[in-house]
Amino acid sequence: MLKIVFVVLGGLWIGNAVAVDGKEVYDQVCSKCHRTGIDGAPKISDKAEWSKRLATGKPALIKSVTEGKGEMPARAGKELSDEEINAAFDYIAGLVK
Ligand code: HEC
Repeated sequence: MLKIVFVVLGGLWIGNAVAVDGKEVYDQVCSKCHRTGIDGAPKISDKAEWSKRLATGKPALIKSVTEGKGEMPARAGKELSDEEINAAFDYIAGLVK
């Protein structure tokens, strides 16, 4: 019986881990700065600025978010997982295209 409970819980946990919602991470964390451009953050509406940044490639940009850059704290100042950062980045990249 106990074994079944563990299997079910394990499945739920893995299910959650895969289903990271980039929009949710963006809305809750990244939008604070990137919607309005606080502290010099590139605004989501500034497509020209983003196209310059995107040209450096996703790995470099993910590194900026993970390690921090300028006024952006490492992991956006939150305890975000790599998956959450990746999902939020993909969401932003989709918005600024
Ligand atoms: C506290 C404000 C703040 C938050 C929160 C924040 N950012 Fe930023 N972000 C900045 C600033 C400021 C810059 C510009 C850094 C620079 O170029 O000096 C920036 C730059 C970036 C860049 C470009 C990095 C580069 O190398 O050019 C990316 C990508 C990015 N942010 C993604 C995110 C993501 C994804 C999140 C949410 C997980 C997030 N940011 C949350 C302030 C923030």
